[in-house]
Amino acid sequence: MVKFISRDRLLSLDKECDEKYGTDHLRFQGEYEGHEIHIRIPRGSWNIMDALVPNILKHVLGDIVEIGMGESSTVLAIHAEDFNVKLHSCDLKMGGMFNVFEKELFEDHICFIGKSEEFIKEYDGNPSIVFLDGEHNYDVVKMELDFFLPRLKNGGVIFMHDTMPPVESNTFKDKYGWNPGDVYMARRELERNPEVDVFTWPYSALNQGLTMVMKHRERTDYWKLNGRIDHIHVKQKWVKDAL
Ligand SMILES: C[S@@+](CC[C@H](N)C(=O)[O-])C[C@H]1O[C@@H](n2cnc3c(N)ncnc32)[C@H](O)[C@@H]1O
Repeated sequence: MVKFISRDRLLSLDKECDEKYGTDHLRFQGEYEGHEIHIRIPRGSWNIMDALVPNILKHVLGDIVEIGMGESSTVLAIHAEDFNVKLHSCDLKMGGMFNVFEKELFEDHICFIGKSEEFIKEYDGNPSIVFLDGEHNYDVVKMELDFFLPRLKNGGVIFMHDTMPPVESNTFKDKYGWNPGDVYMARRELERNPEVDVFTWPYSALNQGLTMVMKHRERTDYWKLNGRIDHIHVKQKWVKDAL
């Protein structure tokens, strides 16, 4: 039986990680194809998602899906739990390569261990928010986008990491896939897609670029809308009464 981590425990994970690994870094130490790999990355990369996710859920309530577990899962889990929605996280390894957690973070946290191409064969929901930060290459991210964009709720958002690396040398595929690779090509395609609005923070998320892709709401009734005036009549009445 899965034992869930309490909210207090979730919040104290940050502190424990600091005590174990130093104040502001996550580490991966391990072996890959016979090579010893050491990676150390600063913590706190997801402050923009942390700020935006509750607002997105407020307007478009639905599940969150994440490809690539880690510190991002803890940020998404807090908001999913607050809004009583499911968080689906997919990775090759529980807790991701930085071993941020060992078991599900709250009751509605559903973890899939395996490649994203396997996950999408099983997932049949309509998420409000998707976060893509798994394998860093165009072909895989394109496959993930082709699956999630049609299923995303109108007004929902796909966040993507590694979309605007600062130097060209980061855009080459390296043997281990640690670099952002050519994910930027998927971002450039989306920028030409009239079905979505795309905004990129180049200096966010380890300076490798964080992109937000918002799927437009259906526009068929757009001519009927009058801004948000119909929604503020209560306030208008209050203003009239006060005069
Ligand atoms: C850069 S890390 C994700 C970092 C994470 N978002 C965080 O906040 O720490 C990329 C993750 O994607 C996983 N991964 C690599 N290829 C994948 C694939 N094809 N499908 C799913 N996950 C994959 C790796 O195991 C690794 O944990």
